[in-house]
Amino acid sequence: MTVKLNGNSEHVAQLLKTIISLIPDAVMVTDEKGLCVMVNRAYTEISGLSQEDVLGKPANIDIAEKESILMKSLKEKRPILNELRRVGPEKKEVLCSATPIFFDGELVGSVGVMHDISEIKRLSRELEQKNQLLKNLQPTYTIEDIVGKSEAIIKAKERAKACAEFFATVLISGESGTGKELFAHAIHNLSKRSQGPFVRVNCAAINKDLLESELFGYEGGAFTGSLKKGKKGYFEEADGGTIFLDEVSELSMPAQAKLLRVLQEQEVIRVGATVPRKVDVRVIAATNRDLEEEVKAGNFRKDLFYRLDVLSIKIPPLRERKEDIPLLCRHILKKLNQKYGRGVNNISDEALKLLYSYDWPGNVRELENVISRAMINMDISEKEIKKEHIPPINILKEEKNKEEDGVISINIKNKKWKEIKKEFEKKVFDYYLKGKKKKVDIARELGITRRSLYLKIEEKAN
Ligand SMILES: Nc1ncnc2c1ncn2[C@@H]1O[C@H](COP(=O)(O)OP(=O)(O)OP(=O)(O)O)[C@@H](O)[C@H]1O
Ligand SMILES: [Mg+2]
Repeated sequence: MTVKLNGNSEHVAQLLKTIISLIPDAVMVTDEKGLCVMVNRAYTEISGLSQEDVLGKPANIDIAEKESILMKSLKEKRPILNELRRVGPEKKEVLCSATPIFFDGELVGSVGVMHDISEIKRLSRELEQKNQLLKNLQPTYTIEDIVGKSEAIIKAKERAKACAEFFATVLISGESGTGKELFAHAIHNLSKRSQGPFVRVNCAAINKDLLESELFGYEGGAFTGSLKKGKKGYFEEADGGTIFLDEVSELSMPAQAKLLRVLQEQEVIRVGATVPRKVDVRVIAATNRDLEEEVKAGNFRKDLFYRLDVLSIKIPPLRERKEDIPLLCRHILKKLNQKYGRGVNNISDEALKLLYSYDWPGNVRELENVISRAMINMDISEKEIKKEHIPPINILKEEKNKEEDGVISINIKNKKWKEIKKEFEKKVFDYYLKGKKKKVDIARELGITRRSLYLKIEEKAN
């Protein structure tokens, strides 16, 4: 849209000058030769050059890299849009556009606009770094989140509190699902470094070939596909905080050697670098294997084991502290109610008895799983978990295993004598054969001949 402006050309020039001066982007106007005739205030701010620096000078005076957009638009007599340039002594990143100005079909100059994107770039870099950190950060737990009234758990919690006061490495061991990660968080949050980062590294999940660069970082251009500016490793990211080396027994031998060096020197060498960097990191390691056994078997370095095992916390399996089950159930219910918007607030005695009868090889994680599945089996209006809601996971098997050694039970309801006898015999022979004794010995123990034993086994097989 064009509007005819009233007034003489001086008025129009003043009007345009005022408009240009108010534009937040940098503006430069040149004559047909590309000599600068005008810049606005934003220009001096963004480029870092004064009016005197540029007026009467060629338009490429401000360009730190590449060709000037204004010159290009004059040369090619066409608008050039959205190209990246760096300007001024600070080499600020700007997005530029320029267009030639024609008067009566004749080229009289050009106008260029630069938009400062250095702030956007800085923010996006910051965001990228924060995202990277967030990826490794877990929700935080405190010592209060560790539930249990058994002596074993109370002791382990006390030990965690004591460990938190020291800088030394802590080794947490326990079967899968016993709460090792929970303890690691709690120690970090109790320690002086609680405001620092908590970085979890799953040693079993890291790609072996990338392990070194993941843990220790790399210098720019250290290998093909690496970031130009290099990258921090987990240890540097955990600087001032705690690094949690989960499943530490899974580290390869070369990785163990490198880890040992970091623990000894408190410094890391990025891949491709020669100079080490100091890091201030507290190490907490966890394992669900017996590391001492792994050392004996030659799978884990002895010196590293001693470095890690300065302070140790052993979390006993749930089957050895079944008195924690009711409290844990209440805790888990509260969590799941919140998560699913439910109002389940009780577990029947019978259901609890069933939970007690099981040995929980997957420990607290398995208990969480079973309760969550029980909730799915409940009507939305039901408030109490009953025996029938609990999924039949391994429970029958466990109850069977619980039978006293050598005691056999069979259900005789609605069965003929012949059937009962057959089932009974089958169970007797199953029992003996599972014991992996030699058949001669079984026959002798039962007071039958070897031949009749073979016949019975054959009968059983048919
Ligand atoms: N004492 C406890 N009180 C409350 N919740 C617990 C307790 N122990 C474990 N949990 C819960 O059980 C789940 C498993 O715990 P965690 O991940 O810490 O176990 P882990 O020992 O690290 O297991 P894995 O060896 O399989 O990694 C988590 O959801 C955790 O919150
Ligand atoms: Mg874990």
